[in-house]
Amino acid sequence: MSADRPRGAVFLTRALPPEPMAALRESVDLHVNPHDRTPTRAELLAGVHGCDALLSLVTDRIDAEVMDAAPTLRVISNYAVGYDNVDVAAASARGIPVTNTPDVLTHSTADMAFALLLAVARRVVEGHDLVRSRAWRGWEPLQLLGSDVSGATLGLVGLGRIGRAMIPRARGFGMDVVYWNRTRLAAEEEARLGATYAPLDEVLARARFASIHVASTPETHHLIGAEALERLGPGGYLINTARGPIVDEHALVEALERGTIAGAGLDVYEREPELQEGLHDRPNVVLAPHLGSATHETRAAMGMLAAQNLLAALRGERPRHVVNPEVLGGP
Ligand code: GLV
Repeated sequence: MSADRPRGAVFLTRALPPEPMAALRESVDLHVNPHDRTPTRAELLAGVHGCDALLSLVTDRIDAEVMDAAPTLRVISNYAVGYDNVDVAAASARGIPVTNTPDVLTHSTADMAFALLLAVARRVVEGHDLVRSRAWRGWEPLQLLGSDVSGATLGLVGLGRIGRAMIPRARGFGMDVVYWNRTRLAAEEEARLGATYAPLDEVLARARFASIHVASTPETHHLIGAEALERLGPGGYLINTARGPIVDEHALVEALERGTIAGAGLDVYEREPELQEGLHDRPNVVLAPHLGSATHETRAAMGMLAAQNLLAALRGERPRHVVNPEVLGGP
């Protein structure tokens, strides 16, 4: 951190790892939600009141009402790469920059997508439950047979930072990679990465494992619904470490129940922490509680980046990662 102490009061909606907490404490007047839970709406509005900066989490809904509760707000620093929890248009209308924490969580999130892929394909959780419940009677030729990962086709739905990070992992398993992205890469880039482009329907039809890596926007809402799951087919698995609303969870439960697809590995849900009825108890689904970036190293790095973004804005400098750069009068 620079020796320049940017003046200002900051509301942090939940305590972060020690490194960013220390960096913020030495630089600003830090107010932290004292509860070990997401602040209620009233606590959020009261907490942000009179503050110059807000450090928010994916679990906080930051809308116009929150911004208007803090007329002195000069930056919203979101502790996540995704920022669908922030009404960016409302922030832009008020001239408030919104920042996020890309890059530092790319590899941990891709690791998590692979962990779910392997777990669901090889029935790791069902096996764990069997052993832990002391019901295992020994090796059996037909017990908990899964599906090969090595040599299978991985379909990437979205090829941003995390989607791209899936490619070397897949190649380590000798997988073929086919991708769909809103913008197709240049042919040289595709060749360099080792990924083949196809329209979304075809990616789903060709993939044994379809892994989602697009942002949650009105355009991607329910991008994966009943028809997409039909295309993935009875041998196919869906992996989602991006955002819940990209998948129609009702259609997903039906597809899992009917055997339209073979299984799913999920880290994110449509209405977190609630799950669609029928998802909890399906054996062919592995459920994680939104852990994509949850390593000590990544969460500390995200915190430092969120703190740096916030402090830069308070100093009147350009933060490294601004999602609405138009408010700063730049590109
Ligand atoms: C987590 O979900 C993130 O967007 O960083």
